[in-house]
Amino acid sequence: MSDSTTQVKADLDRLIPLLDAALLEPFRHGEAQRLGEAMRYSLEAGGKRVRPALCLLASEAVGGTAAMALPGALALEYIHTYSLIHDDLPAMDDDDLRRGRPTNHKVFGEGHAILAGDGLLTEAFGVLARSGLAPDRCVEGLALLAEGAGWRGMAGGQALDLEGETRSAYDLAHLQLIHRLKTGALLRTSLEMGAVLGGASPSERASLRAYGEAIGLAFQIQDDILDATATDAELGKRAGKDAGRGKITYPSLLGLEGARKALSEATETALCHLASLPNRNSLAAWARYLAQRAT
Ligand code: IPE
Ligand code: IPE
Ligand code: MG
Ligand code: MG
Ligand code: MG
Repeated sequence: MSDSTTQVKADLDRLIPLLDAALLEPFRHGEAQRLGEAMRYSLEAGGKRVRPALCLLASEAVGGTAAMALPGALALEYIHTYSLIHDDLPAMDDDDLRRGRPTNHKVFGEGHAILAGDGLLTEAFGVLARSGLAPDRCVEGLALLAEGAGWRGMAGGQALDLEGETRSAYDLAHLQLIHRLKTGALLRTSLEMGAVLGGASPSERASLRAYGEAIGLAFQIQDDILDATATDAELGKRAGKDAGRGKITYPSLLGLEGARKALSEATETALCHLASLPNRNSLAAWARYLAQRAT
């Protein structure tokens, strides 16, 4: 096992219990039981928990604790899970496998899958608002969520991605814009959220935002590479779907080798942005690990 993988595994062993203890709590009691079940179904299916883990690690990287950033980390996993449920809908990528299970709409129907996404998105703001955090940090965190998830962030990127399916060609700059928004925005938000809740200085916050932006791009490049090279069983989702839907991706535009080069450049950029942080070892290991991940 590489040093980066050992570090990431140690971080996950420490942080996942903290997340898992709180993740399902808001969705246990309520009148709309079937909707609650639909939201729990997608959260419980697992997933790598990359965004919440990075949020907690960002707090630690600036001298805060994981506990200080927990409400932000939960909010990010709710938004990410909602984005996957909607991404899989027939009107979007029309997928039937996610996190190793049938997709949410296959089990609960399209209406409930849309509402499960709505419920998760809304709860992201709720969990932060109810967290008892200092009001200025809380408001800053809410604004970050809106920026990362909304039309200038993930939702906007998903729209550009869909519009791209019907365009015959576009250049690398446009593809990079889509990746930066649809995936990069939430990863960047994860780091910046951890920075804000962990009490970062303005320059630490800016470094973590820039690191998040770079690993966000790297993350989607690797997602595109894995779609073209891995199996359904390895990914827990259907592989080879991008080519089938005519998506323009890093491998389709640059070839696999070109995509791997772009991935390694984005990872190096991420590492450079960590240089001025006091506790940077973990985040450096994560950047390396995410570039080599196989799932
Ligand atoms: C998949 O994200 C969708 C993208 C933004 C590329 P992840 O690969 O983090 O999915 P989970 O959370 O592990 O299922
Ligand atoms: C999705 O990108 C990004 C999201 C905002 C959900 P993809 O459509 O490539 O993600 P997968 O491959 O289905 O997980
Ligand atoms: Mg998609
Ligand atoms: Mg998809
Ligand atoms: Mg993909």
